[in-house]
Amino acid sequence: MNTDMASSPGAAPAVEIDHLSHAFGNRRHGRHTAVDDLTLSVRPGECLGLLGPNGAGKTTTIRLVNTLLPIQQGRIRIHGLDVTHHAMKVRRLIGYVPQQLSIEGALTGRENVEWFARLFDIPRSQRAARVESVLEMVDLTDAAERLASTFSGGMVRRLELAQALVNRPAVLVLDEPTVGLDPVARDSVWERVHQMQIEHGMTVIITTHYMDEAEAMCDRVAMMTHGRLAALGAPEELRAAIPGRDGDPATLEDVFRHYARSGLNEDQGGIRNVRAGRRTASRVG
Ligand SMILES: Nc1ncnc2c1ncn2[C@@H]1O[C@H](COP(=O)(O)OP(=O)(O)OP(=O)(O)O)[C@@H](O)[C@H]1O
Ligand SMILES: [Mg+2]
Repeated sequence: MNTDMASSPGAAPAVEIDHLSHAFGNRRHGRHTAVDDLTLSVRPGECLGLLGPNGAGKTTTIRLVNTLLPIQQGRIRIHGLDVTHHAMKVRRLIGYVPQQLSIEGALTGRENVEWFARLFDIPRSQRAARVESVLEMVDLTDAAERLASTFSGGMVRRLELAQALVNRPAVLVLDEPTVGLDPVARDSVWERVHQMQIEHGMTVIITTHYMDEAEAMCDRVAMMTHGRLAALGAPEELRAAIPGRDGDPATLEDVFRHYARSGLNEDQGGIRNVRAGRRTASRVG
């Protein structure tokens, strides 16, 4: 899915992460470095997969890119705009599906998307048509009048995708968008994302623990462990760089295991995310 822009070597990066570090905690309770001197560029129109074990720092990186966390050290630019100095402009360039469920259960499907359309200042005259088109894109037109609290997990995820796409973002950031989806629903999410990429040259950053998705969707994969970049390349390049098993060529799952073996740090990360996810899920229904 390389567009001309993506493959031309001179094109300015869509996302430029430069020596980024981020630590949580304080001196009294201990500090933990979640992102450690990360440097990474994403080309316009490219789909980059951010992979790595639980607690590797993927969500933290994404939240820094999205301006949801303040930059402590290093620098991020989105289409040349520094996220610290141009936070509002950057937010308008980005569509974001967070790891934790984020929709409002007391609103209908359509109201949830309208709310985002208003947040992004989509002109009133265009709003209704834009909302309809993204609802249609994620197959939620028929369910649009129902309260989101009555939606199934897969419908919630598709609604979040509609929210993220309503302002036609230049950069779409998806943090485990297909967790809990059935195989058909997963395919349909990726089909939609791919369609937007082709039609609008959208840049995509995804995290997923499904290696088949990463292989199918991503032009390049960044493998993170302990907040650092362990490997970067096209899936086939990464596979070719490590030995396979029993005479078979390496799979992307082998690649993941190879780099993750340098230390699984699922400590607080996994538990915190699961708990927070449940809390939000119960609010949503
Ligand atoms: N708000 C926070 N406060 C304290 N520590 C945090 C916070 N957010 C993340 N961390 C810690 O930072 C590290 C990286 O977490 P992060 O959520 O970025 O990992 P991840 O790669 O997204 O993992 P997963 O695959 O489980 O989603 C973990 O050790 C986690 O406990
Ligand atoms: Mg995460």
